[in-house]
Amino acid sequence: MGSSYTDLSNVSGIIRQRRSVKPTFMDPEKPVDATLLDTLLENANWAPTHGLTEPWRFTVFTGSARQKLAGFLQGLYQVLTPTHAFKKEKHEKLGRNPLLAPVVLAICMQRGNNAKIPELEEVEAVACAVQNLHLSASAAGLGGFWSTPPILSSAEMRAFLGLGDKDACLGLFYLGWPKEGVTLPESRRSPMNDKVTWF
Ligand SMILES: Cc1cc2nc3c(=O)[nH]c(=O)nc-3n(C[C@H](O)[C@H](O)[C@H](O)COP(=O)(O)O)c2cc1C
Repeated sequence: MGSSYTDLSNVSGIIRQRRSVKPTFMDPEKPVDATLLDTLLENANWAPTHGLTEPWRFTVFTGSARQKLAGFLQGLYQVLTPTHAFKKEKHEKLGRNPLLAPVVLAICMQRGNNAKIPELEEVEAVACAVQNLHLSASAAGLGGFWSTPPILSSAEMRAFLGLGDKDACLGLFYLGWPKEGVTLPESRRSPMNDKVTWF
């Protein structure tokens, strides 16, 4: 198996240092090498999956495709948001964020046809794949950010991504190198002891 306490301490470090790094802190001019991106995606592909349905799908937006995505998201927000709820800042952010990160991935769940596997488990498997990706990105020094604006669950978004009726877009994942001089944001967790019951 080749496992050891050294592996554990490496993995603990990577897990605990992973942060959500917002696109504003990423350098849009510094590309993510295609080979590195392939490795991150390959690691995502090794997520656990009940029944080996492998429901994770990623749509990758780089270069000018990000502009297309940004325009689509802004249009979608405009169409789906009632006038009284429309927020100018939200609309602007949807147009800006995809251009701040050199890579944007649409996180998708493709519902398999194995009826024995509940949909929730397909979603859970996708989340595991995203965590693999995020941890791998952090280990490489990249920033990552999972964002879930409500418009992503619309039929229009599914159509944009070429997803079926039973599939889902579970978020956008922004990926990029932190800008020079940026320190990773702080995060905190309440004690694990409060969340574990021993019998
Ligand atoms: C499923 C999921 C959806 C998320 N969606 C958003 C989001 O829409 N907006 C946001 O600011 N953060 C989002 N986050 C990131 C959390 O805000 C972040 O994980 C939390 O603040 C803790 O920070 P850390 O990841 O650096 O420890 C999401 C995280 C997950 C797991």
